[in-house]
Amino acid sequence: MGYVKLVFLMLFSLLCQLAFCSSLSHLCLKDQALALLQFKHITIDAYSTLLSWNKSIDCCSWDGVHCDEMTGQVTELNLADNGLQGKFHSNSSLFKLSNLKRLDLSNNDFSRSYISPKFGEFSSLTHLDLSYSNFTGLIPVEISYLSKLHVLSIQIFSDGLRFGPHNFELLLKNLTQLRELNLRYVDISSAIPLNFSSYLTALWLPSTQLYGVLPERVFHLSNLESLNLLENPQLTVRFPTTKWNSSASLMELYISGVNITGRIPESFGHLTSLLTLTIASCNRLGSIPKPLWNLTNIEELNLGDNHLEGPISDFFRFGKLWSLSLGNNNFDGKLEFLSFNRSLTLLETLDFSSNLLTGPIPSNVSGMQNLQVLYLSSNQLNGTIPSWIFSLPSLEWLDLSDNHFSGNIQEFKSKTLHQVSLKQNQLQGPIPKSFLNQRDLYYILLSHNNLSGEIASTTCNLTKLLVLDLGSNNLEGTIPLCLGEMSGLLVLDLSNNSLSGTINTTFSIGNELVVLKFDGNKLEGKVPQSLINCKSLEVLDLGNNELNDTFPKWLRALPDLMILRLRSNKFFGPIKDSSTYKFARIQMIDLSSNGFSGDLPMSLFENFEAMKINGEKSGTRQYVADMHFVYYTNSYIVTTKGLDLELPRVLTTNIIIDLSKNRFEGHIPSIIGDLIGLRALNLSHNVLEGDIPVSLHQLSVLESLDLSSNKISGEIPQQLVSLTSLEVLNLSHNHLVGCIPKGKQFDTFENSSYQGNDGLRGLPLSKDCGGDKGVPQATTPFGLDQEEEEEEGDSAIISWQAVLMGYGCGLVIGLSIIYIMLSTQYPTWFSRMDVELEHKILKRMKKHKKRISV
Ligand SMILES: *[C@@H]1O[C@H](CO)[C@@H](O)[C@H](O)[C@H]1NC(C)=O
Ligand SMILES: *[C@@H]1O[C@H](CO)[C@@H](O)[C@H](O)[C@H]1NC(C)=O
Ligand SMILES: *[C@@H]1O[C@H](CO)[C@@H](O)[C@H](O)[C@H]1NC(C)=O
Ligand SMILES: *[C@@H]1O[C@H](CO)[C@@H](O)[C@H](O)[C@H]1NC(C)=O
Ligand SMILES: *[C@@H]1O[C@H](CO)[C@@H](O)[C@H](O)[C@H]1NC(C)=O
Ligand SMILES: *[C@@H]1O[C@H](CO)[C@@H](O)[C@H](O)[C@H]1NC(C)=O
Ligand SMILES: *[C@@H]1O[C@H](CO)[C@@H](O)[C@H](O)[C@H]1NC(C)=O
Ligand SMILES: *[C@@H]1O[C@H](CO)[C@@H](O)[C@H](O)[C@H]1NC(C)=O
Ligand SMILES: *[C@@H]1O[C@H](CO)[C@@H](O)[C@H](O)[C@H]1NC(C)=O
Ligand SMILES: *[C@@H]1O[C@H](CO)[C@@H](O)[C@H](O)[C@H]1NC(C)=O
Ligand SMILES: *[C@@H]1O[C@H](CO)[C@@H](O)[C@H](O)[C@H]1NC(C)=O
Ligand SMILES: *[C@@H]1O[C@H](CO)[C@@H](O)[C@H](O)[C@H]1NC(C)=O
Repeated sequence: MGYVKLVFLMLFSLLCQLAFCSSLSHLCLKDQALALLQFKHITIDAYSTLLSWNKSIDCCSWDGVHCDEMTGQVTELNLADNGLQGKFHSNSSLFKLSNLKRLDLSNNDFSRSYISPKFGEFSSLTHLDLSYSNFTGLIPVEISYLSKLHVLSIQIFSDGLRFGPHNFELLLKNLTQLRELNLRYVDISSAIPLNFSSYLTALWLPSTQLYGVLPERVFHLSNLESLNLLENPQLTVRFPTTKWNSSASLMELYISGVNITGRIPESFGHLTSLLTLTIASCNRLGSIPKPLWNLTNIEELNLGDNHLEGPISDFFRFGKLWSLSLGNNNFDGKLEFLSFNRSLTLLETLDFSSNLLTGPIPSNVSGMQNLQVLYLSSNQLNGTIPSWIFSLPSLEWLDLSDNHFSGNIQEFKSKTLHQVSLKQNQLQGPIPKSFLNQRDLYYILLSHNNLSGEIASTTCNLTKLLVLDLGSNNLEGTIPLCLGEMSGLLVLDLSNNSLSGTINTTFSIGNELVVLKFDGNKLEGKVPQSLINCKSLEVLDLGNNELNDTFPKWLRALPDLMILRLRSNKFFGPIKDSSTYKFARIQMIDLSSNGFSGDLPMSLFENFEAMKINGEKSGTRQYVADMHFVYYTNSYIVTTKGLDLELPRVLTTNIIIDLSKNRFEGHIPSIIGDLIGLRALNLSHNVLEGDIPVSLHQLSVLESLDLSSNKISGEIPQQLVSLTSLEVLNLSHNHLVGCIPKGKQFDTFENSSYQGNDGLRGLPLSKDCGGDKGVPQATTPFGLDQEEEEEEGDSAIISWQAVLMGYGCGLVIGLSIIYIMLSTQYPTWFSRMDVELEHKILKRMKKHKKRISV
């Protein structure tokens, strides 16, 4: 019988092949093929597999499509990473594929579409992935109808998706079959309910604004393999003290930036399956909790950003480690153990940055052939950088910045580098030529050393370079012409060297420069006209050079320019009035110490749109050009309150005009009063005349006003008393007359604010102003402090930290607030930036690869 059956089957299939049974071999159902083809009308890029979808071929064999062999229904659709672009509406034909079991739409760009409630109609779905596809808005409650789901992944890179009240709870309650849940960055804003699937193997809820106490049951899920709760500062986690039911299955545990209460309990010692452990940014103190030493299978350990202490060498008892991150703690000791350790071959990542390590790096280390990441920045390491580091065959990320290394930088033998940061050391000699062999180099940061020699024009061959930071060295020669042709470069910092000659670099059309700093050199000649091609430029600093040019008013065509510094050059001539000025985003303009003349240009101020916003009120805090802060710190010298400050980063609310030390004349335009975001206004040392405009009283966040050494006359407007943020006022050496206003901030200024105005009376000056009864506070004769006054400004560069330490809080309070904000916001922001950056780089790499392989 069996034999007959077989023959029959063979015959049948033969007949089919002879096209008798075309309807059977054509598995794909017409309406489903049609639905797919309709969907194909969405915009796709040149690499999309959808291009292969062709109606003359059976749809079940299209790329990404899988059908049920019996029914011909499309049951799986995998369109991940397919270059899909455009809105994903509720009327999408995909919703006709009602028998889908698996749907993966991740890594596309649905252009901020809402997630349609219709997803809830895919009642057979077991796998749904909508991650990283630019969906936004509320996650519809209908997703919780998908009660057969085993896997749900809706991850994003930053804000945009959120749950309505109670919907997260509903989701967990209804999806009783769930194995994997991944909601990175979705705004859940809820506690984790007690009732959820007991089948969970992976629970990934990083940066989801969870609050409340994590149910202990999570640790007792007997199939749990991976738990990720990173960056949920309101979430309280208390580890169970008894043996966890998950201890035999748990392989990955990521807890950082949450509120861990209590100690690491003994029960941790049972987690012998654990391969990956992150307990970072959790305020852990003291030495390493003992139970951690029982985790003998650990491969990846991250205890960064705590206050842990002890010798770092202890960690090398873990024989299977490939990644060890202990950055930002108080670990101390020397690195000499590296030279006699036998178990370094597996290591791929070592991060000991920001600890208390001392001494040199041993010179006889071997066996690290897999090391890709070496971060030793911000320790107290010294000596020369040993040659084995330059020979590591797999090294990609090297950061030895902020130590005391000396000697020359050797030539790199490795060819795999992505980042080299050696800034803030005492390195000398030339920039190594071997950088050229690094085809995948994105970041070169060598600033704040004593490097000498010229910048080789072959640097321009590094076509993937994003950041070139060579500032604060002793480099000389001219700026290579070709640097302006590096199309991907975002940051070019050559500041504070001894570069000379004219800037005749041609910046090519379409370049992506965001930060350009040539300040503090000996550059001469004119501002290159080709800067007009730097359409993304946010920061242009040409200060402290010998440039001899008129005001480059054509820079107004750069739509994003926020910081323009031309101070201390030989610029000359009037800034002519013209109604077409547009520096709409400018927030910091420093033209001081030049030879500009003529009237203050009204129309220039008129178009400073960004200065007309009081950013404090609008609430969002952003930094100028900060996208690469992780690797490049954008520091700026800012003259405010009579001091030069070096700011680590500049907030977009830091709004400053400095036109001092020129030959500007005429009246102060009252339109300046419209720039209500101004923090500092310095018009000193010009030949301005006329009255102080009453309109200045509108500058409610002004902290520093310097109009000294001009020919300003009339009385100080009484209305200026309303400037309650004012900390520094300098009106000295003018022709002011009348009574000094009284009350509020004006009671805090000393006579140095007013000296050299013979006609001024009232407190704090000794000349009585009818009705004053108080005793004068200071009696220095007017006019004698002029020299002292003149000294300030030109040179003394006081570092930011020094100022914070050295001066009373009153003077710098505004800036210290900025600093505190900056430090407290750091962790979340940092990790987010890191993710974004990583994404950007990966995307670029991928594109590159695709192009090569196509
Ligand atoms: C579809 O496939 C047919 C037959 O293989 C081919 O001739 C046609 O060019 C294809 N169409 C597209 C749009 O690729
Ligand atoms: C789907 O709906 C959107 C907006 O609701 C509309 O613009 C679009 O034309 C519709 N598409 C189809 C194929 O009906
Ligand atoms: C998301 O969509 C918006 C609107 O179309 C677009 O501006 C933005 O670039 C997209 N973002 C990503 C990451 O694709
Ligand atoms: C839970 O799932 C069932 C289908 O299994 C559905 O009928 C019900 O509406 C869902 N409940 C909620 C609150 O989503
Ligand atoms: C959890 O939810 C399921 C399904 O709704 C329900 O049957 C069960 O009783 C709930 N358990 C608890 C402890 O609330
Ligand atoms: C952290 O947990 C402790 C103990 O449960 C609690 O008192 C404290 O308020 C929590 N802190 C935060 C920021 O939630
Ligand atoms: C742990 O597992 C044991 C045995 O399966 C079970 O009796 C106990 O209830 C579980 N504990 C928790 C908290 O789930
Ligand atoms: C951890 O290791 C110590 C010493 O090796 C041992 O005494 C202890 O029993 C271990 N703890 C667990 C929970 O295995
Ligand atoms: C390195 O620093 C130590 C002190 O931490 C000092 O004793 C030693 O001389 C220094 N070595 C070099 C090469 O500077
Ligand atoms: C740099 O690139 C130029 C032009 O692409 C090429 O001629 C030159 O040989 C390259 N130099 C090196 C050292 O690779
Ligand atoms: C560029 O500048 C240098 C030094 O100032 C000069 O020698 C050279 O001739 C200039 N090149 C061009 C093309 O203008
Ligand atoms: C600027 O250059 C012109 C010639 O172009 C020269 O006459 C003038 O002296 C220079 N100015 C200064 C301040 O060096």
